Amino acid sequence: MYESTLHFVEDEGLGAKGELRSGITRRTFVRAALAGGASLLAGRAAKLFAAASPSDNSTFSIGGDLPVNRLGFGAMRLTGENIWGWPPDRENARKVLRRALELGANLIDTADAYGPETDELLIAEALYPYPKELVIATKGGQIRPGPEQWVPRGDPEYLKQCVDKSLKRLKLERIDLYQLHRIDPKVLMEDSLGALKEAQSAGKIRHIGLSEVSPEQVERARKTVPIVTVQNRYNITDRKWENTLSYCEKEQIGFMPWAPVGGTRGMTNATLEKAAKDHGVTIYQLGLAWLLHRSSVILPIPGTSSLAHLEENMAARKIQLTEEEWKTIDALASRA
Ligand SMILES: NC(=O)c1ccc[n+]([C@@H]2O[C@H](COP(=O)([O-])OP(=O)(O)OC[C@H]3O[C@@H](n4cnc5c(N)ncnc54)[C@H](OP(=O)(O)O)[C@@H]3O)[C@@H](O)[C@H]2O)c1
Repeated sequence: MYESTLHFVEDEGLGAKGELRSGITRRTFVRAALAGGASLLAGRAAKLFAAASPSDNSTFSIGGDLPVNRLGFGAMRLTGENIWGWPPDRENARKVLRRALELGANLIDTADAYGPETDELLIAEALYPYPKELVIATKGGQIRPGPEQWVPRGDPEYLKQCVDKSLKRLKLERIDLYQLHRIDPKVLMEDSLGALKEAQSAGKIRHIGLSEVSPEQVERARKTVPIVTVQNRYNITDRKWENTLSYCEKEQIGFMPWAPVGGTRGMTNATLEKAAKDHGVTIYQLGLAWLLHRSSVILPIPGTSSLAHLEENMAARKIQLTEEEWKTIDALASRA
């Protein structure tokens, strides 16, 4: 049987904008924490330790020079149905993006394939001119012949024009993090990466990441270019890529788990639902807190088109699990 002992900490200094970080007083931050916690925990048993000191692994430096708050935002869900076209309520999508920043996310993940194109355009519509702390991570290397279709395409000429087009849509002079969305089995990996290396040398890309890759593929890719992040599907109930995560931990490469709260079907697991309820949080928050505790290289990018879900997810960074609590939850998840 659990005790409801999840700790909520206010992470002063995690605002998306520098001025919020430096301007906040202890009194205002305690009040903010209590207000945020009150709505989150209404009628629940979890404790709120507003004055606790921030955990020292709440940020991660991508490539050694891009510090981000570890809980980011995945923008894919902001497009139309099936990640196709414009969302039915475009203003809502813009609001979600702006709110994500207000809530402390300064890593936003997108791709040219989301929409396609509309996701990147929405980000620029909502957030340009960008705060200087914001890291926009985009991807190229998958084409979308139709709403349900995702096809890897990694020939160098194609990738080069992908970079140029993303720069234009995002209104950027340089993309902080450019990820190869998929390794195209029809193209030599070194050729695809060579195109990104060229874009990097030309100053169009700052850092390069990969997606859905094994440790062996990362190792091989690193012979061509430095790889600073890996984005693989991973969450509390799906640990298929545990080996890649371990590799990233060892090498201090950022690991951005996609589907961090379960992906399209969301998180459904009766045992974890109960554990979350006992702790006075939601299963989504529990899943995110589990990820943040699992490794300091993990940068979850939960996605949503709902402002309420966004608030709920971002509040998860205030949950501090003890080692014992994490292990108990981990064991429950493995059994479920
Ligand atoms: N590299 C890749 O191949 C790849 C693949 C897929 C995704 N990604 C990236 O990873 C990000 C996250 O992945 P994802 O969107 O597939 O999975 P996810 O973040 O685990 O889950 C998103 C789904 O969960 C729902 N959801 C989110 N928070 C919720 C909450 N608090 N309560 C109830 N439902 C909630 C969302 O619906 P609502 O909109 O209704 O909240 C949405 O359907 C994407 O945005 C994208 O940037 C990358």
